[in-house]
Amino acid sequence: MLIRYKKVFDKIAMGLLSFMPDEKDLKKLQQTKNQYETEENWQLFLWKEDEDIIGLIGVVIEDDVVKIQHISVNPSYRRQGIGKSMVKALKQLYDQKKVIPNEYIVDFFNKCDEQEDQNC
Ligand SMILES: CC(C)(COP(=O)(O)OP(=O)(O)OC[C@H]1O[C@@H](n2cnc3c(N)ncnc32)[C@H](O)[C@@H]1OP(=O)(O)O)[C@@H](O)C(=O)NCCC(=O)NCCS
Repeated sequence: MLIRYKKVFDKIAMGLLSFMPDEKDLKKLQQTKNQYETEENWQLFLWKEDEDIIGLIGVVIEDDVVKIQHISVNPSYRRQGIGKSMVKALKQLYDQKKVIPNEYIVDFFNKCDEQEDQNC
């Protein structure tokens, strides 16, 4: 289930964000998290299963476009469809807008699209 980021999830969100290839530097990571907390068009969501937070997806909203900037799944839960489920849930949430990936996510995003087309 996709839930909105709250300050109480601060540490877990930082951990998940740090798996992104462009968020390895601690200063940059802190700055990114602050942007999600303060900028109105930056929105961060977490993926909750049972009581565990195991994934993160972050977007920037510009007019009719929702651009995915960050997507990350806890390594223990990868290859189980959680990444794809997050993309699908995000598209449902923003069904009036066009959801697109940034350059780091494009390959994975296209894979999700292909598999959706095949009804997998
Ligand atoms: C990318 C990520 C979010 C995928 O999460 P996940 O829950 O394992 O994804 P799913 O189980 O829904 O899908 C797995 C599929 O995506 C593919 N995949 C994983 N990372 C990929 C990437 N960077 N580019 C293209 N495909 C990718 C896997 O090969 C797998 O394919 P298969 O089903 O044909 O075997 C996860 O690997 C992760 O957190 N990576 C580190 C963060 C990161 O690098 N994010 C940016 C790159 S997208």
